[in-house]
Amino acid sequence: MTMTSASIRRAFLDFFASKQHQVVPSSSLIPGNDATLLFTNAGMVQFKDVFLGQDPRSYNRAVSAQRCVRAGGKHNDLENVGYTARHHTFFEMLGNFSFGDYFKQHAIAYAWEFLTEVVKLPKEKLWVTVYQTDDEAYHIWKDSIGVPAERIIRIGDNKGAPYASDNFWAMGDTGPCGPCTEIFYDHGAHIWGGPPGSAEEDGDRYIEIWNIVFMQFNRHSDGRMEKLPKPSVDTGMGLERIAAILQHVHSNYEIDTFVALIKAAADATGATDLTDKSLRVVADHIRSCAFLIVDGVQPSNEGRGYVLRRIVRRAVRHGNKLGARGAFFYKLVPALVAQMGEAYPELAAKQAVVEKILKLEEEQFGKTLERGLTILEEALAVLDGTVLPGELVFKLYDTYGFPVDLTNDVARERNLSIDQAGFDAAMAEQRKRAQQASNFGTDYNAQLSSSQHTEFTGYQHEFGNATVVEILQQGQAVTTLDDGAEALLILDKTPFYAESGGQVGDTGSLTLASGAVFVVEDTIKLGKAFAHKGRLQGTLKLGDKVDAQIDSARRAAIKQNHSATHLLHAALRKVLGEHVTQKGSLVGPERLRFDFSHFEAVKADQLRQIELLVNEQIQQNNVLDTRLMPIEQAKAAGAMALFGEKYDDEVRVLSMGDFSIELCGGTHVSRTGDIGLFKIVSEGGIASGVRRIEAVSGAGAISFIQQLEQQAQSVAAALKGDVMSIAERVQQALERSKQLEKDIEQLKAKLASQAGASLLEQAEQHGGATVLVAQLPATEPKALRTTLDELKNKLSTGVVLLATVNDDKISLIAGVTDDLTAKVHAGQLVGWAAGKLGGKGGGRPDMAQAGGTDIAALSAVLTEAKTHISSKLS
Ligand code: ALA
Repeated sequence: MTMTSASIRRAFLDFFASKQHQVVPSSSLIPGNDATLLFTNAGMVQFKDVFLGQDPRSYNRAVSAQRCVRAGGKHNDLENVGYTARHHTFFEMLGNFSFGDYFKQHAIAYAWEFLTEVVKLPKEKLWVTVYQTDDEAYHIWKDSIGVPAERIIRIGDNKGAPYASDNFWAMGDTGPCGPCTEIFYDHGAHIWGGPPGSAEEDGDRYIEIWNIVFMQFNRHSDGRMEKLPKPSVDTGMGLERIAAILQHVHSNYEIDTFVALIKAAADATGATDLTDKSLRVVADHIRSCAFLIVDGVQPSNEGRGYVLRRIVRRAVRHGNKLGARGAFFYKLVPALVAQMGEAYPELAAKQAVVEKILKLEEEQFGKTLERGLTILEEALAVLDGTVLPGELVFKLYDTYGFPVDLTNDVARERNLSIDQAGFDAAMAEQRKRAQQASNFGTDYNAQLSSSQHTEFTGYQHEFGNATVVEILQQGQAVTTLDDGAEALLILDKTPFYAESGGQVGDTGSLTLASGAVFVVEDTIKLGKAFAHKGRLQGTLKLGDKVDAQIDSARRAAIKQNHSATHLLHAALRKVLGEHVTQKGSLVGPERLRFDFSHFEAVKADQLRQIELLVNEQIQQNNVLDTRLMPIEQAKAAGAMALFGEKYDDEVRVLSMGDFSIELCGGTHVSRTGDIGLFKIVSEGGIASGVRRIEAVSGAGAISFIQQLEQQAQSVAAALKGDVMSIAERVQQALERSKQLEKDIEQLKAKLASQAGASLLEQAEQHGGATVLVAQLPATEPKALRTTLDELKNKLSTGVVLLATVNDDKISLIAGVTDDLTAKVHAGQLVGWAAGKLGGKGGGRPDMAQAGGTDIAALSAVLTEAKTHISSKLS
């Protein structure tokens, strides 16, 4: 019986559990402890600090099945996916680990036992490699395991630099590393390829299945190799590769998991050829995309979000090639959950969110794709040679938002390449232009600098004495200021908060003993100096002492809004999910603004829930606790830090009960109760995937609610009702006006019919038929049609031609009773008249409409029409 992927995973975990290994769940794809790594790319990532001796655990042997992504960063396989039998953006790594416990002997013996006794691979199919100088590993394989010497291959630093070898594994440019031994499986002579180290090693015959790393060093960024506290073991076996062997297929894409996903991809795209490479791409990509979203990544234009976006886009394009119309990619999620939801419950739990985010991203990109592909196709049709010009690639990218890697992908499929250098040059040119453009209107403060260092006393105090240590006037350092001068004053210490972290700068006054006052309108940071921006009444010179006093009422309102912002942030994550991250904020005295990532509009009931949560926290009146601590400690405590933001080693951590903990340098209330009240004012989108909430707190919230009430009261008064019933009243008023509109319509129709009756008095008889040609006063085209219908109903046999003028335009309409259409064709009749009136038109034989512009000619044309009609009738 062949083993399913799930049963292999299970067997691996069970085997090592029976050897006293702690079974540890897969960690997130976002490395929790490592800024040097884009994604978790191996099983050892979650144990990095354990290897380094910095994170003691209660166990010293572990086993895991770890989800991994290799797209972007050191180990990047994105471009190869779909074109080889075994490259993936996402794969599962089965691994056993020893943290200073067993070493080479046991690591090798365990692997051999699992492969040959548990899953029963034939020994003669297994080959091994060891690091060139690793005699110990060599002899374990040869003497203790009994692998024949001709199937043990030593591999040295064959990639140019020291330790640059297939048999020396490193997690990244820095971090734990060491020599390794690898186990290969021989898929048989019918497949091209040679053993590792041979010239044909890149063929598909000998496939590496298990890598056993003897972790011994910590590589530093300067290249130094520091010995780890204890020699350790890190191993990794790709689940997909071992499954391919055990399921007797050659390609990873033929194993059970992929067969199911490829089937789902075919269903979703309408593809029928199940061997199509694009189906493999789509089936591979759904795994990385779904799990990245599960782990909190959202498509964006930077960092991890950008990698995700690129993978989704690549999948969408391949789906498009397969014939998919409209969003299809998200439809693969249920099949993925069926395959992997049991092993990864976090996937099953977030299925709906994953589908939603993927669908939105697909729909958005679908439009870009269609336009970009059309332009690319046009360019390819006239292409000379085999290289796509850099200018074209750049234009697609810059003007149409068409990603370069997709252009590359399309080119590659047709054996073409892109002029990367030309593209880079166009890109550099563009950057230069953008830079020049942004030099206009630069805020001159940005060009100012100061080497002073101001001590901030404003966490505790709102006033204090200080000394003027620098004066900047129009960008120049000066020593004195005259009455009325505008300047930036820098003090040795100050209670004024300088704008940063979204919180606006303080205002207030600096008073001198002489009675002179410098009125501060804003405070900004110039490096480590706090600059007070304002205007002087009196005179002042360098070294003067001042009494600094901030506007306390304004600061109090800012504090309320700032603390409320933290509560809002935490509440958003509780209500909408952990994917919510801060994208920006502005905290002023009147209101607060908070931008965050979220894939759709926040629903009204969610907004209410968020508002309630925040107010609940306010009522709990928790103490705000601020502490200084090392950044690592703060992160370990769970403090939310902004992704990509640079923090000092020592950071200020602000927590409110156990509801919110964030890094923050701003000023805050002492207890949440001081915020008083919190009210959301608006919610809306500001960019794709980014929402903005504006809110008020404290007195601002009360005043906002009073304004709302006032508005409601004036509406109620106008409707002669009370506030609580305005919705109902408005509803009634709307219904009433709808009814009135209907009545008016009916009256108009009645008038038209009466007008028709009186028009008939102008009719003439020609050979038994009634002929009516008339100009009506300005009439809407719709009413004209009603009038015509009325007239036709009244005639048993006849021809009607009506004209009217609205805003310089002539409308014509003709109607002919059925018995006469052989003689007079309504379409031809209006066409004939319109032709003489500078217009065009035609239509059915019994009814037709047309227009014209030559108003001066209208009366004569209508007269002529009568003769025209009677000649046709006779
Ligand atoms: N960490 C090792 C690898 O990824 C086992 O190959």
